[in-house]
Amino acid sequence: MKITVIGSGYVGLVSGACLADLGNDVICLDVDPRKIEILNNGGSPIYEPGLDEVIKRNMAVGRLRFTTDIAASVAHGLVQMIAVGTPSEEDGSADLQYVIAAARNIARHMTEYKVIVDKSTVPVGTADKVRLAVQAELDKRALDPQSSFRDPGFSIVSNPEFLKEGAAIDDFNRPDRIVIGANDEAAIKVMRDMYAPFQRNHERLIVMDIKSAELTKYAANAMLATRISFMNELANLAERVGADIEHVRKGIGSDQRIGYSFLYAGCGYGGSCFPKDVRALQRTSAEHGLPLKVLEAVESVNNAQKSVLLDKITKRFGTDLKGKHFALWGLAFKPGTDDMREASSRVLMEGLWAMGATVTAFDPVAMQETRHLYGDRADLSFSDNSKDALQDADALVIVTEWKAFKSPDFSIIKARLKTPVIFDGRNLFEPADIKALGFEYYGIGRVG
Ligand SMILES: NC(=O)c1ccc[n+]([C@@H]2O[C@H](COP(=O)([O-])OP(=O)(O)OC[C@H]3O[C@@H](n4cnc5c(N)ncnc54)[C@H](O)[C@@H]3O)[C@@H](O)[C@H]2O)c1
Repeated sequence: MKITVIGSGYVGLVSGACLADLGNDVICLDVDPRKIEILNNGGSPIYEPGLDEVIKRNMAVGRLRFTTDIAASVAHGLVQMIAVGTPSEEDGSADLQYVIAAARNIARHMTEYKVIVDKSTVPVGTADKVRLAVQAELDKRALDPQSSFRDPGFSIVSNPEFLKEGAAIDDFNRPDRIVIGANDEAAIKVMRDMYAPFQRNHERLIVMDIKSAELTKYAANAMLATRISFMNELANLAERVGADIEHVRKGIGSDQRIGYSFLYAGCGYGGSCFPKDVRALQRTSAEHGLPLKVLEAVESVNNAQKSVLLDKITKRFGTDLKGKHFALWGLAFKPGTDDMREASSRVLMEGLWAMGATVTAFDPVAMQETRHLYGDRADLSFSDNSKDALQDADALVIVTEWKAFKSPDFSIIKARLKTPVIFDGRNLFEPADIKALGFEYYGIGRVG
């Protein structure tokens, strides 16, 4: 099948590359010429495990191409898959300008029937807005007396994406479910054909109306964010009452109705999805006169939780941190990605700097992105490896649970730190074990 993917970011690139890998003929479009140049030169503008190989393999056989040429990209695909960003507006609502611009571009150039698929995360009602924007452009063209253009018709589909950064290739290739929101049979048939290779093992397609599909994506992220904030709030209570949140996690996760996923207490969730999607769903609910109270709490708990490490640090070292130096392990909002959007590390570093401290950070992949965000500054340096970052620091602070941080050589940590203090924002270690090694240890909701 000929497929055009509009937007070559985390979702667009992974979707385009994986669909090409199944034998489809895919063109990925982006308005950012820098990204397209990197891709056409054999590189990748983002870090995602395994993505480089899939891109290279499919470029080599001509099944995957990258372009900034809108007309060519519209001419190419029967399926026009929109995977552009939908960042938060000031008021929390999703900014739809990129989605609408992409839709208009399709309408301005299409000469035959297209299935316009919205893969971006968009509020309920966006498909209607896309339909209106496309139809308005088509009507303009059809009414132009200079042109012989005839409206070829189009379908709109909502096909939200559930992949996780860091495991995106696997998630895309083996999805728990594929949600298709569509109101016409022709479009559903095209989607069934496109996703047929994913259906071999068992039925994964869940077909529904468009609005339900749009809401399903927000509901999924809001539910996961709720679990995290619930556990974080419980962890704070556990500290007060002398309970251990890790015991509590195991105690409730073993209940099949609850399960173990997304129950880890920590220093808050970040990334490009949960924070903005929780805000956007709050906004939608408020606009419809039914503000979701649970989500207000989820967001405010998370905002506070991003400062929990800073609170522990100031409790230990005071609020004047001039002359204090901290080693930071982990910058990305989670392991397996270089994504720094709304990362907890940013709240921590900015707080430390405001109190006069300096930071040496190590992250396996997100240091370049962090440099890009903060530029050159005297109170931030980077280390090539986790061990060197520790040198003469007053404490080690762990913010991202990269695998390589889980079994470190504690004798090296102790030898390099000025004082043997660890603030563990992801509960990687057993407090009693660490304390037995002579460390002062501060986890999240832990005792012992
Ligand atoms: N990142 C994730 O883990 C994830 C997971 C599921 C869903 N989503 C959703 O998918 C959407 C995309 O997210 P992302 O993380 O891939 O974003 P991203 O910012 O990484 O990529 C978006 C890309 O779209 C490009 N773009 C913007 N306007 C364009 C236009 N008119 N034509 C062509 N390209 C255009 C941008 O230059 C950018 O490269 C968002 O709605 C997001 O909420 C993201």
